[in-house]
Amino acid sequence: MAALRYHLTTFGCQMNEHDSERIDGLLESLGYERAAAPSNADLILLNTCSIRESADRRLATQLGNAKRFKAARPGVVVAVGGCWAQSLKDEVFERYPFVDVAFGPGQVDRLGEFLLSDSLEAQGYFEFGGFTADLPMRSQQSASAWMQISVGCNQKCSYCIVPSTRGRELSRPFDDLVAEARRLVARGAREITLLGQNVNSYGRDLRPARHSFSELLASIDAVEGVDRLRYTSPHPQDMRSDVVAAHAELESLCEHIHLPLQSGSSRVLKAMRRTYDRERYLSRVAMIREAIPDISLTTDIIVGFPGETEADFEQTLSLVEEVQFDGAFTFVYSPRRDTEAALITEALVDAEQASERIGRLIELVQRGAQQRAQRFVGRSVEVLVEGSSRTNPERLRGRTRHNKPVNFIGVADPGDLVEVEVTGATSTSLSGEATLLASAVR
Ligand code: SAH
Ligand code: SF4
Ligand code: F3S
Repeated sequence: MAALRYHLTTFGCQMNEHDSERIDGLLESLGYERAAAPSNADLILLNTCSIRESADRRLATQLGNAKRFKAARPGVVVAVGGCWAQSLKDEVFERYPFVDVAFGPGQVDRLGEFLLSDSLEAQGYFEFGGFTADLPMRSQQSASAWMQISVGCNQKCSYCIVPSTRGRELSRPFDDLVAEARRLVARGAREITLLGQNVNSYGRDLRPARHSFSELLASIDAVEGVDRLRYTSPHPQDMRSDVVAAHAELESLCEHIHLPLQSGSSRVLKAMRRTYDRERYLSRVAMIREAIPDISLTTDIIVGFPGETEADFEQTLSLVEEVQFDGAFTFVYSPRRDTEAALITEALVDAEQASERIGRLIELVQRGAQQRAQRFVGRSVEVLVEGSSRTNPERLRGRTRHNKPVNFIGVADPGDLVEVEVTGATSTSLSGEATLLASAVR
C-alpha cells in the first residue's frame, strides 16, 4: 500500500515553526510522507496562530480550501493544531464541522494517538503541559536549529492571547537542554536559537535545583561545535546584568538582542501591563550598549492601543529616535478574545488613525535602521550561509552574527561560515563579497 501523505501549513511565530518540525518528525515516524500540495494529501494539517486578527483571516481561507478538498475526497483527514485551535477549543468543531481533530500547542503527541486509533469521531485535545521538544525530530538537517527551552508565559500583557493559548510557564530541565544541544551539533547544527515566550525568565520554576537563563547560556556556549547562540524573545523586565555580561563573555552568543518595547509611553505601557516604564526600558538599553557597544537591537512595537493619544504615540517616536533600533516589527493593535484590553470600550483608536501612525513609525524605524546598518560597510563580517539569494540566484544569502541578512558574491555551501566584505547596506539587508571560506574563519 502506498504511504499516506500529509500537507502541513504553519502560521505564526518561531515557536509554531518549531512545533511544526516536531509534527513533521512525528508523522515521519508514523510512516507518512509529505504531499506537495494540500489538494493531494490524505491528511491536511494547519498549525495555527491567533496573535492578531489578520492571522485568523489567513487561516479562514486555508480552512475553506481544506473543506473543498475534503468534499472532493471524503477520506481526507483535516487536523488543526496551535494557538487558534486552543483559544476556541471545542467551538472549532461547531464552527467547522469538517475538522476531524483539533489540538493545542502542548498536545502535538495526541495527534499521533488520534491517527493510530480507529476513531471516526472528531476529537479535541486542549490540555497544557507537554513539551513539543520531547517528540521525534524530523530527519532533515540544517546548520541552524531551534531549541525550545520553555513553554507558556506568566506575564499578563493586557493585549495578548498567548498566556491563554500556551498556558503557564514551564521550563524544560537544564540537563535535557544541554544534552539536546549536543545532539543538535552531532546532527550538523552550528547555530542554536533558544525559544520561549519569555526566555530570560527561564529556570525559576525548576525544582529542586533552580537554574538561571545566564547559566543556561554559559552551558550551551560550552558545548563543542556551537558556533552561534541566539535566543528569542526576552522580556525587558528580566534583562538583567548577568545576561548582558554573558553577551560580552561568551564567544558563541551573538551580538543581537530582540528586546520588545511595545510602546514608548509609560502610561500606555502601564495599561498594557508590561511591568516596565519608558525610563526602565531606556536604562536596559544603556546597560546593554555599555557592555556591548556594537550590538544590534531590534524590537516589537504596537500602535493604536486603546487610549493611545497623539502625545503617547509621539513618545514612541521619540524613543525610537533616541534608541536607533537596527530593526523593528510594528503592529496595529488588534483586540483578541479573552484578553483584558479587548474589554476596553473608551478612547479607541480608529483604523485610519492607527494606519497613519504606523506609517509614520515605519518610516522612522527604516531611517534609523538604514543609518545603523552603514556601520557595517567596509567591515569584514562572518556570515553563516543559508543558500542562494532569493532575488538573484547567482548570489548567496546568509546571516551575520548581528542577524542581518547578507546577499553576497562567492562560492560556498549552506552551513558554511564565510568572511564577507560588506560593500552596501539598506535598512533590512547587507551586500558584499566573500573573502575567505568557512574553515579558514575559525
Ligand atoms: N512573547 C513575546 C512575543 C509575543 S507575540 C514577547 O513578549 O515579546 C509577538 C508580538 O506580537 C508582540 O511582541 C507584540 O508586539 C505583538 N502582539 C501581541 N499581541 C498583539 C495584539 N493583540 N495586537 C497587535 N500586536 C500584538
Ligand atoms: Fe504575550 Fe506579554 Fe507573554 Fe509576550 S510576554 S507572550 S506579549 S503576555
Ligand atoms: Fe506564536 Fe501565534 Fe501562538 S505568535 S505563540 S503561534 S498566537
